[in-house]
Formats: sequence, structure tokens, C-alpha cells
Amino acid sequence: MKHFTLFLVAVATMAGVVAQMIPAPGHADGAPAPFVTEIPQGYRDWRWISSAHEAGKLNSLGAVLGNDVAYNAFRNGKLPYPDGTIIAALHYRNVPSDENNKVFGQAQSFVPGAPTNIQFMVKDSKKYAATGGWGFGHFADGKPGDAAFMKSCFPCHEKAKATDLVFTRYAP
Ligand code: HEC
Repeated sequence: MKHFTLFLVAVATMAGVVAQMIPAPGHADGAPAPFVTEIPQGYRDWRWISSAHEAGKLNSLGAVLGNDVAYNAFRNGKLPYPDGTIIAALHYRNVPSDENNKVFGQAQSFVPGAPTNIQFMVKDSKKYAATGGWGFGHFADGKPGDAAFMKSCFPCHEKAKATDLVFTRYAP
């Protein structure tokens, strides 16, 4: 009986050790999943993939750009996106252009106004394994979003699972 009790203690101890070794998804050691904290260099010179206008409260005009790896993957419809892919979404206020409207003779022209934020998705399947292999980045006035805010990105982008978490389609 004594041996059996010892055996149970040993099994329970092992189970505890194993449980501690298995990280909860997205939280290897209870820390928040890593996200992008530095603006990728040279993003403003990358190639255009597509644009998107959000109405409502956002009222934004956005341009989606990609580095060479991203551009080629988008263009060739390559899924999943390879490591090294970086997608940038540059967001601006969507404002009417008085200058253009004067020329048209009516209100119909909207152009990018003040920049609001830049967002990035950086593919690194190891580093960002907890968030589907994508590191999310958000910068307003050059400052990164805080950890709590950055938690919102992955759950929504997961809805685009069929296209490797990317919503934007290549505009030919
Ligand atoms: C409620 C859902 C939702 C949340 C939350 C969200 N996104 Fe998105 N994101 C979208 C949709 C839809 C698009 C495509 C339309 C557009 O570009 O406006 C998009 C586009 C993007 C793109 C262009 C690539 C692509 O997937 O089309 C990037 C980069 C991006 N989001 C980054 C982020 C970051 C960083 C965060 C967190 C701070 C974030 N997103 C939070 C829904 C979301």
C-alpha cells in the first residue's frame, strides 16, 4: 500500500511537471504574445498592393504596401505567405479636396488627409507562432500600440484564416 501511495505521488508530481512544461496557447510563460515594436525600415518605398476606405467612425483612406517578398506572394497568389513577408497598411483621414472639387464643379473628390496610424503584419512563423506566424504592429505618431491594444489584432485577423490571416487582395 505504501508503495502504491508513493507511486501515486510520483504520477501526480510528473503530471504537474508536464503541465508546467506545456505552454498555454499564445502565452508561453504567461507573458503576452510578442508583437512588432519597431517600424520596419523603408516601408514607404514598398510596392502598392491595394487600397481600402473605411467609412463610419474610422473614416479612413488606406494604402496597403508590401515588401518584395509580400509583393511576389500577393501577385502569384502564394499561400501561406513565406517568412520575411511584411505588409504595411498606411491610414489617413479621408477628407474632401476643395481644390479638386472646384475643378469638378461639385463635391466628389476625397484624398488622404492627416495620417492616423501605420499598421504592419510581419511573417515569422517561429517568433510569432502564438499569433498565427504573424507579428502585428501599430504605430501612431511613431509610437507602438500598448500590449493590451495589440491583443485585438490576431482574434479578428484569424477570421481570414483561409487567406493566411490577410484580408487584402492584390489589386491588378
Ligand atoms: C475587427 C477586426 C480587425 C481588427 C481588430 C484588426 N484588423 Fe487589421 N484588418 C481588418 C480588415 C477587415 C482589413 C482589410 C480592410 C482594410 O484594410 O481596412 C484589415 C487590414 C489590415 C492590414 C493589411 C493586411 C490585411 O490583412 O488585409 C494590416 C497590416 C492590419 N490590418 C493590421 C492590423 C493590426 C496591427 C491590428 C491591431 C492593432 C489590426 N489589424 C486589428 C480587420 C481587423
